[in-house]
Amino acid sequence: MPDASAPLVQVEGLTKQFAVRSGRRTRQLRALDGVGFELGRGETLGLVGESGCGKSTLARTLLMLERPDAGTVRFDGTDPFALRGKELLDFRRRVQMVFQDPYDSLNARMTAGEIVAEPWRTHRGMYATSRDRAARVGELLDLVGLRPSDADRYPQEFSGGQRQRIGIARALSLAPDVVVCDEPVSALDLSVQAQVLNLLAELRRELGVSYVFISHDLSVVRHIADRVAVMYLGRIVESGTTAQVFDRPRHPYTAALLSAAPSLDPNGRANRIVLDGEIPSPLDPPSGCRFRTRCWKATDVCATQAPPPVRDGDGHDAECHHPLVHPLGTEPEALARSR
Ligand SMILES: Nc1ncnc2c1ncn2[C@@H]1O[C@H](COP(=O)(O)OP(=O)(O)O)[C@@H](O)[C@H]1O
Ligand code: SF4
Ligand SMILES: [Mg+2]
Repeated sequence: MPDASAPLVQVEGLTKQFAVRSGRRTRQLRALDGVGFELGRGETLGLVGESGCGKSTLARTLLMLERPDAGTVRFDGTDPFALRGKELLDFRRRVQMVFQDPYDSLNARMTAGEIVAEPWRTHRGMYATSRDRAARVGELLDLVGLRPSDADRYPQEFSGGQRQRIGIARALSLAPDVVVCDEPVSALDLSVQAQVLNLLAELRRELGVSYVFISHDLSVVRHIADRVAVMYLGRIVESGTTAQVFDRPRHPYTAALLSAAPSLDPNGRANRIVLDGEIPSPLDPPSGCRFRTRCWKATDVCATQAPPPVRDGDGHDAECHHPLVHPLGTEPEALARSR
């Protein structure tokens, strides 16, 4: 029996490599390199990091669209990769996805109603009659702020925000426990972003669903997440509650990301840490700490030894040889770099 007090999702040591051709050679690109986190029931975990750090690969692995090379995923105590038949189908029902691009992810030849109802073709038996299904489609459209009569319209007839609402209704049609949202508002105008975020937050309160909410945009994650995990080149380098990570970042990368985001820099320009330099290729990650080529705190040890975990039992974890102390503005290096 699943233990209701245990986290809904537990991930440990997840590693995923892709074989890529580079010139005449085939090389291994490590998109995930030992990723671990937990997702509580009804919780929203925000996953942030720059483009290419492995967020979508992690999402796809959680949905079993990719098979990890190493590490474990536990969903309600069970390894989904070991499931077969009915149990596998039930797992697939319980974990759903909302995609980034509402223009690409909806079939233009299907009506909104057909799109929302489509998952029931695989997961048969959820609703007995076509009348029940039509009624449920109406309810789902209403739930996401559309009109039941919108069921007969095609995606092209909707705005970007409305299309994303259709995508959300489709994800909810199977009554999932977890919805993995991969950059769900990145393609939308700012004003529409806020509406869709508020809708997701409302739906969570109403339905008790959990989210893994992926974004490269810190302000979006701060708005919606209970806990935050910061990724860099295939690893989670810091995690904690939203307040812990945003107000007292321990990892220099998190601090740099925060201070590079203008709207989130409450102290103005005074202690701005600049995140410069290119992200290294995951084909050739730096030795020691992978952030060292861009880190203003790096010392010799950072080039030779993997950074140790920084944990003091309050659920706020990082991995760094020289974690930040707070208040941040008192760090001599940060002041030296200030502009
Ligand atoms: N199917 C694939 N084949 C080869 N490389 C891939 C594949 N999918 C992702 N990658 C690489 O893995 C890394 C992480 O990609 P991704 O998970 O899409 O990052 P993010 O979503 O954070 O932008 C990138 O370097 C990307 O090029
Ligand atoms: S381990 Fe060193 S290089 Fe890496 S983040 Fe910490 S201080 Fe910077
Ligand atoms: Mg992505």
